[in-house]
Amino acid sequence: MPAASAAASSAAQAAHEVLLSAADIPVGGGRVFADQDVVVTQPSAGEYQAFSATCTHQGCKVRDVVNGEIICPCHDSAFAIADGSVVGGPAQQPLPEKSVSVEDGGIVVT
Ligand code: FES
Repeated sequence: MPAASAAASSAAQAAHEVLLSAADIPVGGGRVFADQDVVVTQPSAGEYQAFSATCTHQGCKVRDVVNGEIICPCHDSAFAIADGSVVGGPAQQPLPEKSVSVEDGGIVVT
């Protein structure tokens, strides 16, 4: 009698994830989603970008998007919301880009 306790319900790893309404991303700013390791920005109206939220300096999570820059709290590296490039601080590498799209008004990062 097989004691099939294979309750490994492989939690359907969604290929992409709806984070929130696109309307919640400010134009010229962005939001950090630390749990998903992503920062979503809207450099200009209707144009969305997404980047890894892990700082390329020493791996802290970036925390805020201020004045068009994504800020890491650990050593004050700053990255451009348009392309994740370094605009200040000790980081040398840009934040890696992620794919982002808007589906039914929701932000989807893949
Ligand atoms: S870890 Fe981000 S600035 Fe050092």
